[in-house]
Amino acid sequence: MENRRQLVFSFVIRLLGFFVLLMRSSRGDINYSVPEETKIGHVIGNIAKDLGLSAKTLSTRKARLDADDDGKVYCDILSSGDLVVAERIDREEMCGPKTECSLKYEIILENPLQLHRVMIEVQDINDHSPVFASDMIKFEIRESAMKGARFAVNGAHDADIGQNGVQSYVLQNNAHFSFDVHAKPGGGKYGELVLNKELDREQQRELTLTLTAKDGGNPQRSGTAVIHVTILDANDNVPVFSQSVYKVNVPESAALGTVVATVTATDADEGANGDVTYEFGYLSEELNRLFKLNEKTGDIILDGQVDFEKESRYELSIQGKDGAGLASFASVIVEVSDVNDNPPAIFLKSVQNPVPENAAPGTEVGIINVQDKDTGKNKQVHCSIQQNVPFQLIPSIKNYFSIVTTSELDREQVAEYNITITATDEGMPPLSSSKVIHLSVSDVNDNPPVFDEQSYSAYVAENNKAGTSICSVTARDPDWRQNGTVLYSLLPSEVNGVPVSSFLSINADTGVIHAVRSFDYEQFRSLKVQVVSRDNGSPPLSSNATVSVFITDENDNSPQILYPAPEGKSLMTEMVPKAALSGSLVSKVIAVDADSGQNAWLSYRIVKSTDPGLFSMGVHSGEIRVQRDISESDSMKQNLVISVRDNGQPPLSATCSVYLLISDNLAEVPELKDMTYEEKSSKLTSYLIIALVSVSTFFLTFIILILAVRFCRRRKPRLLFDGAVAIPSAYLPPNYAEVEGAGTLRSSYNYDAYLTTGSHTSDFKFIRSYNDSTLPAGGTLRKSPDDSNIITFSEAGEEGVFLPCAQ
Ligand SMILES: *[C@@H]1O[C@H](CO)[C@@H](O)[C@H](O)[C@H]1NC(C)=O
Ligand SMILES: *[C@@H]1O[C@H](CO)[C@@H](O)[C@H](O)[C@H]1NC(C)=O
Ligand SMILES: *[C@@H]1O[C@H](CO)[C@@H](O)[C@H](O)[C@H]1NC(C)=O
Repeated sequence: MENRRQLVFSFVIRLLGFFVLLMRSSRGDINYSVPEETKIGHVIGNIAKDLGLSAKTLSTRKARLDADDDGKVYCDILSSGDLVVAERIDREEMCGPKTECSLKYEIILENPLQLHRVMIEVQDINDHSPVFASDMIKFEIRESAMKGARFAVNGAHDADIGQNGVQSYVLQNNAHFSFDVHAKPGGGKYGELVLNKELDREQQRELTLTLTAKDGGNPQRSGTAVIHVTILDANDNVPVFSQSVYKVNVPESAALGTVVATVTATDADEGANGDVTYEFGYLSEELNRLFKLNEKTGDIILDGQVDFEKESRYELSIQGKDGAGLASFASVIVEVSDVNDNPPAIFLKSVQNPVPENAAPGTEVGIINVQDKDTGKNKQVHCSIQQNVPFQLIPSIKNYFSIVTTSELDREQVAEYNITITATDEGMPPLSSSKVIHLSVSDVNDNPPVFDEQSYSAYVAENNKAGTSICSVTARDPDWRQNGTVLYSLLPSEVNGVPVSSFLSINADTGVIHAVRSFDYEQFRSLKVQVVSRDNGSPPLSSNATVSVFITDENDNSPQILYPAPEGKSLMTEMVPKAALSGSLVSKVIAVDADSGQNAWLSYRIVKSTDPGLFSMGVHSGEIRVQRDISESDSMKQNLVISVRDNGQPPLSATCSVYLLISDNLAEVPELKDMTYEEKSSKLTSYLIIALVSVSTFFLTFIILILAVRFCRRRKPRLLFDGAVAIPSAYLPPNYAEVEGAGTLRSSYNYDAYLTTGSHTSDFKFIRSYNDSTLPAGGTLRKSPDDSNIITFSEAGEEGVFLPCAQ
């Protein structure tokens, strides 16, 4: 189509040229045409013929060509009159882009001078190809360029003109661009690359297209250029995470600084558009504290301590952003795994404190609950109770345990328990914890008071003051407070028909026993009382003990002289035969002492005598004997003053007078009454005699009586009769009479003694010694000099002190 049009066009042009040629010819000009680049010698036309001259004429007339303006002459006239090409004719050189191009000459003929104009039109031939300004046309197009975008490309140039100029462009087939040609204002053409389909740098970074320009000559010529399109990046890609959700597992024990996970996002863009930085989405304060994100590497770093028990799962939102701000998101799920980091905890849910000591075995005293915050095996807990306490753990529902007693409790032995309960879990390694539960045992009144001794002995000297404390008893009760508070009392009883309370009293609190009155050893020597101790419990418990109070003797009785009768009352005169030999018994003084022991051990002395050498006194027997044979010169009437003294501290004594008449016949004593009582009447004398006789009779009767009684009962105490006077051997104090060897008291400290209740005529009693069996044989007994109540007793070389009331 295009070609055809071009053909028509060129035809019209030629036709026009022809008419012009005709007009010129008509004016006498000669017109020729010759294609450029014809070979030298090419005949353009025959001038001779065209001028109507013969060739010969031409040569004779020296026809020659002359160029205007001394221009170059490309043609030559041959002798034949032919106009031939003499030099290479290049239209482009001569006329450039001008469409009209002709060589204008004048033919000069001489003889006559004639001028003819010749115009040779130079015709274009297609001897040039289109040429682009450069072989390589470079473009940088952003991949974001829109469809329809245009990019101007300079057209190719073809030196030829007309049909031989650039007629069309052909762009190499490609997916993205087409090529449009436009006329430039003011002539010329330019092309445009038109983007038909968007570019994608990420698919293809550059494009090389060949653009071909074609002319319309025949043969057709073409020229090519390479269009190089560099596709510039546009931030058209978002970063893409390798996973949309990252799941990681972290043990709760993970150290700070541990990389928990690494997220990666890639961005297909380049440069800053492809540089991905990471950041967290919204995070709670706690999460912010726990995790840090390396914005370059995408490492999520543990920055705090995770705790499975607090939170086992965290979800972090992460943004990956490229330099231009395109972003995408991913989430990281951090699952915290359990580590056995929690020891079991023991909680005391209830406790019965105190536990009464009479609680039956199996009584529940407390409930504990054990908890472990860990999971799985780390949560499995075993519980145990320490050994050697009477408690055990009984598992109950879930993690509850009962603490029950396993045996009877006794507050008096163990009043409180510290029970250690240990709980251990099954983790690796196991953790354990323990708790101490304090349990106290409360009292029950289960113990009666117990006296230190079952029987007490106390010694008290007679003539004590009323109110004297005699001894104290102690009973102990291990129970608590009032259950163990002991009160003392005396069990009512009678002593000799008198209530015991009139003799003794006890301090209810202290157990100190007091004498209510003064005791008299000579009245009674001991008394026995039951002491009761009672606690304050409800009901109270009690026990009793026996207290024996022994009254010890004091020297409070003077010796009593029974014979001879005391002075003034009766007058006794002993008859001493004149022939009495030295050593013969004359008389015997008899005295008694109501006290006992040393206090009753009497000794006799002659204090005063008429003839000091005549009579001697048995110190302990009281016997008066003749010391030497009586001679005629001795006075008939002998008078002795006798002192009887006991061995007490201080000693007490009594005196009496004995009148002795040395005579064989009572009648020989005319002035008997003058011996002492010269002035007394005969009436008095007769009274005396009567009294003497009656006393003697009575005494004899008495002696016989005693003898009989003693003989019947014991047969032991022998009575010595010497002369008219009977003296019981038991009258002698025991130490004196029976102490042997090294002072060991053998058979007895016991002795019998006569006691009198006062008057001479009253009856005597036998009182048996009380300490018959209190001393074991082999011990030594002696009286302490400073304290008459303390008796020191030593046995087998050991010495001890017997305190009254301690036993
Ligand atoms: C029990 O523990 C307490 C306090 O630690 C202590 O004072 C007490 O003596 C302990 N008791 C026993 C019986 O160990
Ligand atoms: C004494 O024992 C009784 C039971 O016999 C008991 O109820 C009471 O609490 C006890 N008193 C004290 C102070 O422990
Ligand atoms: C004294 O105690 C004994 C046992 O210790 C008991 O047999 C006796 O009955 C008690 N006497 C009195 C009067 O309580």
